[in-house]
Amino acid sequence: MAKQKADDLTMIQDIILNAKEAAQKEIDGNAEPEFTQKISWPVDCKVGPGLEGAIACETEIGYVNGSMGYLIYRGYDIFDLCAYSSFEEVSYLLLFGELPSKEELKEFKESLNEYRHLLDIKRLLMSFPLENMNPMAALRLGINFMRHKQTYRDQAEVVSKAESIATDEDSIAMETPPRGERKSIYEFRKKQYRRPKNVQAGLVGSEGVGSCIRLIAGLPTIVAAIARIRKGHLPIEPDTSLTLAGNFLYMLTGEKPTPLAERIMDICLILHADHGMNASTFAAMVVASTLSDVYSSVEAGVAALNGPLHGGANEQVLLMLNQIGSEANVEPWFAQMMKKKRKIMGFGHRVYKAYDPRARILGPLAKMISATTPELRDFFKIAQTLEKVVNKSFGKDKNIFPNVDYYSGLVYKALNIDHEIFTPIFAVSRVSGWCARVLEYLEKNRIFRPRAIYNGEFNKKYTPINKRK
Ligand code: ACO
Repeated sequence: MAKQKADDLTMIQDIILNAKEAAQKEIDGNAEPEFTQKISWPVDCKVGPGLEGAIACETEIGYVNGSMGYLIYRGYDIFDLCAYSSFEEVSYLLLFGELPSKEELKEFKESLNEYRHLLDIKRLLMSFPLENMNPMAALRLGINFMRHKQTYRDQAEVVSKAESIATDEDSIAMETPPRGERKSIYEFRKKQYRRPKNVQAGLVGSEGVGSCIRLIAGLPTIVAAIARIRKGHLPIEPDTSLTLAGNFLYMLTGEKPTPLAERIMDICLILHADHGMNASTFAAMVVASTLSDVYSSVEAGVAALNGPLHGGANEQVLLMLNQIGSEANVEPWFAQMMKKKRKIMGFGHRVYKAYDPRARILGPLAKMISATTPELRDFFKIAQTLEKVVNKSFGKDKNIFPNVDYYSGLVYKALNIDHEIFTPIFAVSRVSGWCARVLEYLEKNRIFRPRAIYNGEFNKKYTPINKRK
């Protein structure tokens, strides 16, 4: 048993290290000095629609090199983090800037364990008709319940004592950090959140990093409860002897996961934890920049992640593979899609113009765990054939390759997870990145306020309603 576990974990590590080697052989492109050098504001940049190319802030949290196809968190290569680290360690790294010592990791895990228990929130969720609700909308509801239970923001007694602030965006002095307001309004303010000397002191409390840790610990519990309530089952109490990934699988399925399943889920969580200024991270940061609270920021991230162009794509990929049905049908199906000018789900990326390193890891993992189930094996073969067809058709010319969502759905299906929970799983992981980026941005906050080019008319004469056609 112990030997089997060790063999499985070694096999996964080998898969990741082989993927790293393959990536390094193919890495080819420029080092992007424009995105990695120190700058002084204001900065010149070429901006496309959708803020493509726009530089909104500086960060030390993570970097995506789209032309070379690599991804780092706080300087560490994603392949190394997946091969050697855990989601708990990576979350600590993102939040505090450095990998934890043994003692720091132990304390961090203890805090996460403590905050896994959300009895009241599960009870509240059970009183809603979640079976008729989009799971991502249900997740926002759960986060709102957490906000209500874990902060004192909306409590009349506290709010009435707090100083009132001007809410008109243009009246906030943009360069001035907030000062003088009470904690009940600015829950983020926490000067020393970076690797506090006394880690425990840094982890408790309902404001700042304490809220972030509660969210990282709480989202798996909420998502698992939503999944079970939607099926008419009771939520399962967390098992604090398991890792965050293992406990998440346990709360979802009701079964203690195998070490292999636990490790694969752990890797999926590491892989999705941060990814530059993607739409959901940006949404979370925009909300935070108004000096809203971290729960509202995370809710905004969840809302942005829900769309099929962002986090919803892996669910669409499985539906697509199901629709294709067989390897023989890949070419005719693809021809139809091209005729209709449809996008192929799971391909393409705003930043990557090389193979997405996350897909490099998930592809072989999907192959490995789908091998034992005929239905999944067929799905994997269809996916592989489609990848070849896309590559031959336009992929190479347009630099469009599989993205993280292409193989993640297959991995989750092999872990026995319903497709409607795929996007919430993304949130369970990305909450670490959202929190880290929001805390970092608030250190030098400036409210987000881009401009639009007005192409409308001027000087139109107002027509009273009874004279309008
Ligand atoms: N299938 C077919 N063609 C594509 C695809 C695709 N999946 N993605 C891009 N293209 C083509 C476009 O049609 C366009 O072609 P053109 O220049 O001839 O008009 C060109 O590639 C550039 O595409 P854009 O849409 O401009 O690229 P953009 O950076 O705006 O979009 C996006 C990126 C949204 C991810 C896009 O590739 C897409 O819709 N992919 C499918 C959905 C998906 O997989 N989303 C998950 C992304 S990963 C994540 O968010 C976790």
